[in-house]
Amino acid sequence: MSFFNRDVISITDFNRNNFEELFDLTEKLLDKKVSNLDILEGKIMASAFFEPSTRTRLSFETAMKRLGGDVITLVGEEAVSIKKGESFIDTVRMLDSYSDIIVIRHSYEGAAKLAAEIANSPVINGGDGKQHHPTQAFIDLFTVKRLKGSIDGLIYGVLGDLKYARTANSFLLALTRFNPKKIYLISPSILKVRSETRDYLVKSGITFEEYTDITEIIDELDVLYVTRIQKERFPDPVEYEKVRGSYRVTTSILKNAKPDLKILHPLPKLDEIDPKLDETKYAAYFKQAYYGVPVRMALLLLIFGVKPDL
Ligand code: CP
Repeated sequence: MSFFNRDVISITDFNRNNFEELFDLTEKLLDKKVSNLDILEGKIMASAFFEPSTRTRLSFETAMKRLGGDVITLVGEEAVSIKKGESFIDTVRMLDSYSDIIVIRHSYEGAAKLAAEIANSPVINGGDGKQHHPTQAFIDLFTVKRLKGSIDGLIYGVLGDLKYARTANSFLLALTRFNPKKIYLISPSILKVRSETRDYLVKSGITFEEYTDITEIIDELDVLYVTRIQKERFPDPVEYEKVRGSYRVTTSILKNAKPDLKILHPLPKLDEIDPKLDETKYAAYFKQAYYGVPVRMALLLLIFGVKPDL
């Protein structure tokens, strides 16, 4: 199935061909240094963020504007009529009637899926609770491909809150569309990868192992994907306090790393990566965030079915 007129709810809705089509167009946009086109003139994107965001909202809005389209924005429930008691469903109906595509972030799992059932226009999930963040996964794998030359055949470490982090889970699910040599899942024991993701890795024939200490396997990794602990998703603040600050990537840990290891992080990062690493050859996370705009430009073009002359 192509991207045309399609909702983007879970990364598992997409196959390897979809990834490759998206990455090829992104490469073209980057290589031709495309920053301004008027190809989506007349189209409006509703950017509906019921949860905070820096990268996802701003890069989608930048992408739409760079393609010549326009944006209407809703940030938080305080500023809209949900505050007056209007339902989420009626709010989505309004977004649908005012725009041609909707990007939605919400703390409720399944919010984007529900919006897609209501709206006639395509809906893109910009993150629903701990569940999915599909466009982040597209960006993450594009970054690996761009910086490492291939997604296949690499050894990956995914470090952090694997229970609640939607980014890490979408990244793992996305890797099932490729052939990683091995994945190490490294987390505090109470934040182990959730069962549906683990089951999906097993079903997909992915080789993986679970660890609590990154130093045991750091020397093997080609890519290290780090996430922060998702404080906002913990039902019990006492549980959060038990794991706060329990892992941190430092120069000392990287003593045994491969020289061409790349560290990814969806951001925002807190204290799980020593800022001294930001300027090192290992740090790929700011580049990864930069790729957010071209990947989302390519995604919008494919969903609208508009081919730029590149
Ligand atoms: N990576 C990501 O989703 O960042 P934001 O929360 O800033 O959008």
